[in-house]
Amino acid sequence: MRTNQPQTIYLSEYKVPAYLVDQVDLRFELFEDGARVHSTLTVRRNPDSGESAAPLFLHGDSLQLESVALNGSPLRTGEFEDRGDALVVPSVPEKFELQVVTWIEPQNNTRLEGLYKSSGMFCTQCEAEGFRCITFYPDRPDVMARFRTRIEADKSAYPVLLSNGNPVDNGELENGRHFVTWEDPFPKPAYLFALVAGDLVEKKDTFTTCSGRNIDLRMYVEPRNAKKCDFAMDALKRSMRWDEDVYGREYDLDIFMIVAVDDFNMGAMENKGLNIFNSSCVLASQETATDAAFQRIEAIVAHEYFHNWSGNRVTCRDWFQLSLKEGFTVFRDSQFSADMGSPTVKRIEDATLLRTAQFAEDAGPMAHPVRPASYMEISNFYTLTIYEKGAEVVRMIHNLLGDEMFRKGSDLYFQRHDGQAVTTDDFVRAMEDASGRDLGQFRLWYEQAGTPVVSVSDEYDESSGIYRLTVRQSIPDTPGQTGKKPQHIPFALGLLGADGQPLPLKLSGESGEAPLERVLELSQAEHCFEFEGLSERPVPSLLRDFSAPVRVHYPWTREQLLFLMSHDPDGFNRWDAGQRLAVDVIQSLVGAPESAGVEPRLVDAYRSLLQDSELDQALMAKMLQLPSEAYLIELAEQADVAAIHQAREKVLGYLAEGLRDELMACYRRNVGQGDYQLTPEAIARRSLRNTALGWLLHIGDQEALALAKEQFRGADNMTDRLGALRALVNSDFAEDRTQALEAFYKRFSDDPQVVELWFSVQASSDRAGQLPQIRQLLDHPAFDWKNPNKVRSVVGAFAAQNLAAFHNPDGSGYEFLAEQVCRLDDSNPQIAARLVAPLTRWRKFAPGYSKQMKSALERIRDKAELSRDVYEVVHKSLA
Ligand code: ARG
Ligand code: ZN
Repeated sequence: MRTNQPQTIYLSEYKVPAYLVDQVDLRFELFEDGARVHSTLTVRRNPDSGESAAPLFLHGDSLQLESVALNGSPLRTGEFEDRGDALVVPSVPEKFELQVVTWIEPQNNTRLEGLYKSSGMFCTQCEAEGFRCITFYPDRPDVMARFRTRIEADKSAYPVLLSNGNPVDNGELENGRHFVTWEDPFPKPAYLFALVAGDLVEKKDTFTTCSGRNIDLRMYVEPRNAKKCDFAMDALKRSMRWDEDVYGREYDLDIFMIVAVDDFNMGAMENKGLNIFNSSCVLASQETATDAAFQRIEAIVAHEYFHNWSGNRVTCRDWFQLSLKEGFTVFRDSQFSADMGSPTVKRIEDATLLRTAQFAEDAGPMAHPVRPASYMEISNFYTLTIYEKGAEVVRMIHNLLGDEMFRKGSDLYFQRHDGQAVTTDDFVRAMEDASGRDLGQFRLWYEQAGTPVVSVSDEYDESSGIYRLTVRQSIPDTPGQTGKKPQHIPFALGLLGADGQPLPLKLSGESGEAPLERVLELSQAEHCFEFEGLSERPVPSLLRDFSAPVRVHYPWTREQLLFLMSHDPDGFNRWDAGQRLAVDVIQSLVGAPESAGVEPRLVDAYRSLLQDSELDQALMAKMLQLPSEAYLIELAEQADVAAIHQAREKVLGYLAEGLRDELMACYRRNVGQGDYQLTPEAIARRSLRNTALGWLLHIGDQEALALAKEQFRGADNMTDRLGALRALVNSDFAEDRTQALEAFYKRFSDDPQVVELWFSVQASSDRAGQLPQIRQLLDHPAFDWKNPNKVRSVVGAFAAQNLAAFHNPDGSGYEFLAEQVCRLDDSNPQIAARLVAPLTRWRKFAPGYSKQMKSALERIRDKAELSRDVYEVVHKSLA
């Protein structure tokens, strides 16, 4: 597992596999002190490889080899080489069977890669390179084989035995053991292999596909979670229907299974026919899950299900192509979520994540293209760039081609590449071939890292009625990439007249009716667009609906932003104008003297917002959220966290004081709305009342305190209970905070998902989550270093969300994080490497911070025996 100088893998060095595997037969003997894995591979030389006498090379990791046989004859010392991380057989025939027996110790597997135990059950995580922790295998996605898997285990402890595909056999064995055999008819890469063994309850449902086939749907969960499955099951059925309706994709096996496990490094995994989920991403009930959690579950269930086509039937040739399946699948799940709820709100949420976190990644030392050219540890590349920017790239193709052509393109892609392992270039080519569009320059989105900056300036000539927009793009340098070429950017815009009416966009020389909105296609470093026939100077509404993942610079005045905030017909840009205004106001107060006043027009704007009964309430709820500290830091040149925190708090306090009565009215208007529902309207109402409550408690309002305590006690759902708790925790009512936290824990102490919420509410609060309190949380009996969710809910939440405390000028927050990263590096390097992220941005901060962040990184760098995961992140950050 540990190398002192990890190797860099390059896309340019890709070679087709020398050997292909047609069939994999696996037999697992599961015991308490380990597992024996019998593997039989049917192998043949790859006719495309050109290397005729190549040795057979199989990956391995943490395996104890018991025996190797070729065509039934045991291999002797000298006939094979066990290198620890590989098994090499120098001389093999053209076609053969290889039998390998390995012994592994799932009960001691704390990395949660390969086969491991989680609360008493066996489960697997093989993406990206976990299968090699199970047995020796050509563990690369372009080797696709049919799998047959027999699982043997004690029947009373592990009554449920699952793997991919369909169950084909089962029976009793000696000593109270039993077995089940599964067969997956679809060739797949090893990263899609899965196995589960446990004492689980089964929830059943069915789905009839568009061609009339009946599919058995199953969820397997621990008995205590039996009541938390309904929502995910329903989301699954909606996803299956949606993928048929929108993409023409029908499910292909007779059974589809979902399993929930408590210890999981990521959100979920799309193993063929047997999706495995982090409990927190699939289990939910009204009493225990927030609205945000329900929406997350819906999106992740859909995401994993959609992978069955975009990922499994058509998979990646190599891990550089990861965004082929992840970008496309995130795009698909975001379309699905938009269809299920409020499209504008979904767009706002996606853009917020992108602008806050992906832009930061793209501007930092780990910046990489959507299709990276090299990596040390592929686990480090499951990033916002691969997922979220990758999805934006697919969205741009969708918008350039239009609905119909995009569907033709995706049909062609699935048809042309079914059963293959392909590249992002194959995807783009299918889109080109189906639509006839040239996406040559567009491909740069996959190759160039960094967030393009689009700077817009304008002039209006009253005498000719011509409005001239000059649009320049540039892409900042990123590690290893300088002097970038202009990209193909779809730039949607509209123009508004003084009365708020949209104006026609007639480009000079054009005839016919001019549209009220258009998408300009930028392809050069600079363009000048002339719009004619304008009788007044328009206010531009730029990058509507966030039509490309870029930063837009335009010198909007506060007047113009106020105007767009109430008049832009594009909901996204209405929200964005409010954000830009709030950012501008907060930024002007950063580092300003105590006496500096807050822009009064901001209060007026929020007042009209709160009183606007016409406005879509879901949009209003979003518009009421102030830009986060993380976003403000991302926008800053040399971020002074304490000053940003103070400025934001000041604005928040000023707004809450100025709007006290309106907020109270908003709260009262939005309580007591009958049964709990998950419609966009109901979600918006809960969001509005909890925002109002939070703001009012922020200024210590006594009446609001009483309302919060009442809501906390009487809530019939977690959104409201947690909303009240969060408001109390972030207030100065210290006693009420303590009481509420105690009551909450007492009530939910046996529910791990809720305990995680309880941890994170504290860890992310500057009132309840200062470092000494964080250390107490780590000593809490419910905290568990082996459970990634617990680590994320305390250490992760502290470093990523409690920015004022984490960036304590004395450096204690950084030191603390370094300490926890070093501790975790020994047990779970994937999680350790993810936790380092906040420190990697050290260059972004004012000198007092950055120096100490850097030395915390150096402390991690100097730890003995650093994992490859943490090594790569730390060394690249310090380079
Ligand atoms: N393919 C999974 C998903 O996005 C994520 C698996 C990530 N695994 C990892 N070791 N990084 O649905
Ligand atoms: Zn995915």
